[in-house]
Amino acid sequence: MRLDDALDLIAEIPDFPEPGILFRDLTPVFGDAAAFASVIDALGEAVGDGVDRLAAVEARGFVLAAAVGYARGLGVALVRKPGKLPAVAGRVDYALEYGTATLELPVGSVEPGQRVAIVDDVLATGGTVAATAKLVESAGAAVSGVAVVLELAALGARSRLGGMPVEALRTL
Ligand code: PRP
Repeated sequence: MRLDDALDLIAEIPDFPEPGILFRDLTPVFGDAAAFASVIDALGEAVGDGVDRLAAVEARGFVLAAAVGYARGLGVALVRKPGKLPAVAGRVDYALEYGTATLELPVGSVEPGQRVAIVDDVLATGGTVAATAKLVESAGAAVSGVAVVLELAALGARSRLGGMPVEALRTL
């Protein structure tokens, strides 16, 4: 399937999870094998070269990063929401488009000196990616770049992420 056709499957759900928020729902992409393959192939390229590991945040980020990791032969650091990990290497609190959140990096998921690419479904405010980058850097690794399916440009993630290279398959 052409990438544009795959991305056209992304649904818009008004007023979720709060009134006034237009939620971008990748459920139809995950559910369509051809669309999913097209998106994974494109994300695999967007991750770039010279990458040692991927990092992703639960839940939808895990699905994408696992498939990209398999396709590219890369392991994945599974960044968790709080309270899930037996051994926490780092913890960051951050602001979401709606609400606040905390992320935790598992001990041993990123090695010092590695180049790590962050994979996610949607880049909105950039808070999730910025928090993930902090965790990666706190473990002594470097963020090589960010690959996302959808970037909501009006929310200004790029300014929050400084000069971090960001590849989005579609920007709205
Ligand atoms: C969504 C999305 C990104 C993040 C983007 O995750 O999957 O990770 O928000 O928003 P930001 O750029 O403003 O930080 P959510 O917390 O809804 O988690 P989910 O994947 O478990 O639904």
